Amino acid sequence: MSDTQTRLPRTPPQILGPFYPFMLTPTEGFDLTNGGQAKGTVLYVSGRVLTETGAPVAGAKIEIWQANAAGRYPHPNDDNVAAPLDEKFQGFAVSRTDENGGYAFKTVRPAAYPAAPGRWRPAHIHFQVTSKYEQLVTQMYFKGDKYNESDAWLNSASRKDLLITDPTPVAGKEPGAQEVTFDIIITRG
Ligand SMILES: [Fe+2]
Repeated sequence: MSDTQTRLPRTPPQILGPFYPFMLTPTEGFDLTNGGQAKGTVLYVSGRVLTETGAPVAGAKIEIWQANAAGRYPHPNDDNVAAPLDEKFQGFAVSRTDENGGYAFKTVRPAAYPAAPGRWRPAHIHFQVTSKYEQLVTQMYFKGDKYNESDAWLNSASRKDLLITDPTPVAGKEPGAQEVTFDIIITRG
């Protein structure tokens, strides 16, 4: 690599969050919505996993987990019981990147949720990317969330802008559906 070549900024890591319900391993798939039956705004999330030199990372395992459109995780440890579960929403999925480093999930926009008395987490989706050499755990956030400014985990990121996305309406899908691109940069593929 020459000195003049631009390096992509590595995606900032974020703390591990609530993970899969006990004893439940996600089957591979990309649709968390049961064919669009889950409540909330359908969100098509896609992107590429790249190294800092822009090389695609093929075959990386990519896992996501998140709260539903009401701010509830389908996890027994989630005590946000004021928010309803959604039996049509899976809450987690695992997939692999294609030869171009690409991945895609169909989910819903998660809601913010109370993490402690007086402290709310902004809406976010947890990501874990595992390549042959590296594992990155991070979170994707949403522009305009009123809790972004006060969130300790988002504020801990070296580059918050790399984690905050801005979904846009997508035509030809479910009414009101949105799409967003979230590229993930790791050090080694
Ligand atoms: Fe979370």
